[in-house]
Amino acid sequence: MSRPKVFVARRIPDEGLNRIAAAADVDVWPDRLPPSSDVLRERVADCEGLVSLLTDRVSAALLAAAPRLRVVSNFAVGFNNVDVPACTAHGVCVGNTPGVLTDATADIAVTLLLAATRRLGECTTDAKQGRWLTWEPLGWLGQDLAGRTLGIVGMGRIGFATAKRLHHGWGMKVLYTARTPKPDADRKLGAQHVELNTLLAESDFVSVHADLNQTTKGLFGAEQFRRMKPSAVFVNTSRGPLVDQPALAAALRAGTIFAAGLDVTEPEPLPADHELFTLPNCVIAPHVASATVGTRDAMARLCAENLLAGLRGDPLPHWVNPEAAGNRRA
Ligand code: DGY
Repeated sequence: MSRPKVFVARRIPDEGLNRIAAAADVDVWPDRLPPSSDVLRERVADCEGLVSLLTDRVSAALLAAAPRLRVVSNFAVGFNNVDVPACTAHGVCVGNTPGVLTDATADIAVTLLLAATRRLGECTTDAKQGRWLTWEPLGWLGQDLAGRTLGIVGMGRIGFATAKRLHHGWGMKVLYTARTPKPDADRKLGAQHVELNTLLAESDFVSVHADLNQTTKGLFGAEQFRRMKPSAVFVNTSRGPLVDQPALAAALRAGTIFAAGLDVTEPEPLPADHELFTLPNCVIAPHVASATVGTRDAMARLCAENLLAGLRGDPLPHWVNPEAAGNRRA
């Protein structure tokens, strides 16, 4: 029996790659940068499986050009790079990697929150560049953390893990938005489900964990930053397009809010001469929330399991579009 053909759009950890290679003929894109959409389409044209990354657009055009494609296994929990309705219409299964990156992502949300709140980017740069003149009573003053109010926008797994760290570690009171109240968060963290405007007005820290979709795109604009406290710190580890970046830059420059910590931007990478990089009160990481050895290994394992289940015609362990079950490509 011939082995299925799989295109892997970047080198992923061996934990996943070796499992895929044991069952399929694998074509791995060797470069650090992603294939262009034309090249991606060409390479997937005769494949049964695709391992995509958040930088690879899985479009209706790609699906139409890949008649044998049965499964797209996204090496990420987010899947806004995949046209899921088009995959479902073509009978192509889509998998993602939830759960395994919750702790690593919550760790980065807290790291950015601490760094922005205590002006770590600014003061470490100043120290390195000769601006550390002496111990100054008024130098690099940040904000306090203990007992303050944390606003979680999107109380899913990662929002909960972030709130847990800050509630138990720093005694923060937790407010949150979510489509429905989360009894677990209410019970375990004493958290309170509120409207976004209440959260913005009352929180000292606002941490974003919502998915990117048509309703959340541009959710944070000038009006939302105006509603926040001048001492507030804004953190985004979700997706860049949730934020109107010119509005964020204006709010940081004017002191409408105190600081921001971003792991995600629009575009990615953010150009080195981008205005946000010039602001001392903005800490920016290059989308590294899931970047630990153990987490990336676990993502690779899940990714391989989804892919192999899709190739076998089994239910995917983490199936984004189970509604495709009825018309799966054979
Ligand atoms: C994801 O998985 O969606 C992250 O953004 C990358 O790990």
